[in-house]
Amino acid sequence: MTKSFDPNSESFNRLLKHAISPRPICFASTIDNDGNVNLSPFSFFNLMGQTPPICVFSPVNKMRDGSKKHTLDNVLEHPECVINIVNYDIVQQQSLASVEFKKGVNEFEKAGLTPIPSEIVKPPRVKESPIQMECKVRNVVSISDEPGAANLVIAEILRIHVEENFLDEQNHVSPYTLDLVARLGDDYYCRIIPESIFEVARPATKAFGIGIDSLPNDVKLSKFLTGNHLGQLGTQEKIPTKEMVDNFIVQLKERVEIEKFKPIEIRHQIAAKLLDQGDVNGAWFWLLMEL
Ligand SMILES: Cc1cc2nc3c(=O)[nH]c(=O)nc-3n(C[C@H](O)[C@H](O)[C@H](O)COP(=O)(O)O)c2cc1C
Repeated sequence: MTKSFDPNSESFNRLLKHAISPRPICFASTIDNDGNVNLSPFSFFNLMGQTPPICVFSPVNKMRDGSKKHTLDNVLEHPECVINIVNYDIVQQQSLASVEFKKGVNEFEKAGLTPIPSEIVKPPRVKESPIQMECKVRNVVSISDEPGAANLVIAEILRIHVEENFLDEQNHVSPYTLDLVARLGDDYYCRIIPESIFEVARPATKAFGIGIDSLPNDVKLSKFLTGNHLGQLGTQEKIPTKEMVDNFIVQLKERVEIEKFKPIEIRHQIAAKLLDQGDVNGAWFWLLMEL
């Protein structure tokens, strides 16, 4: 059973922030016409395109009175920003920078972060941030004057700066070392630690995935295979031929007493284990084997 909510129900906004998460954090540095610097975090943020590279963040109208945030005023006055990426080492300082300081207060100073000059745009970068992106604001789309309404700041990334320690010889970064953080619902954050990182084979790189609908019925309905297992199987381009499976059985017979694998449940359980280990081919042999 599901419970349903619409936007005017009390829990809606909190539910939404838990549902659409984790959200990356855009730590945006901006300036006003007088050159006053502002630095504030926004988790209504993401990369939206690559050519040209476009990202969007949204300083919403204040819930209290619908007034605009300083970051929005600034990008309307001076359409440039630097988006600094937040990792665990600066998560408390970025939180401190989210305090509603008075207009003109420099959050770099309040949060104890170091401004360094940008190369193309006027707002400074955050030295302590592992990745900083200089952006030109292409457009601002305001949804309404209501409290909480979105103001989409559409920014084109002109240059990206990456702290050298995070780059390998091929100029690649690894999610294992960046130690990024993201925003969840309420006051929760998450941290990208090695135990939380895994890879999923990308179906788009293959000609075709056969799809879950094409899996044999006993596989689709197996009580030992989860949706993730079926997804792994459906991502394969081809399934082993009968001849390949027969060969596998012959080899297996040389090593073990095959009788014990007669119950289909046992074979499905073995296949599930192999899929958990990423051995999709191995799993197929066990699933297609007829004993
Ligand atoms: C992690 C985090 C994410 C936030 N995300 C947003 C957001 O996406 N939109 C928003 O309007 N405020 C967001 N805030 C609150 C703003 O940072 C806060 O209102 C800040 O005072 C705005 O500063 P400004 O008025 O100087 O622009 C967030 C705060 C934190 C700590």
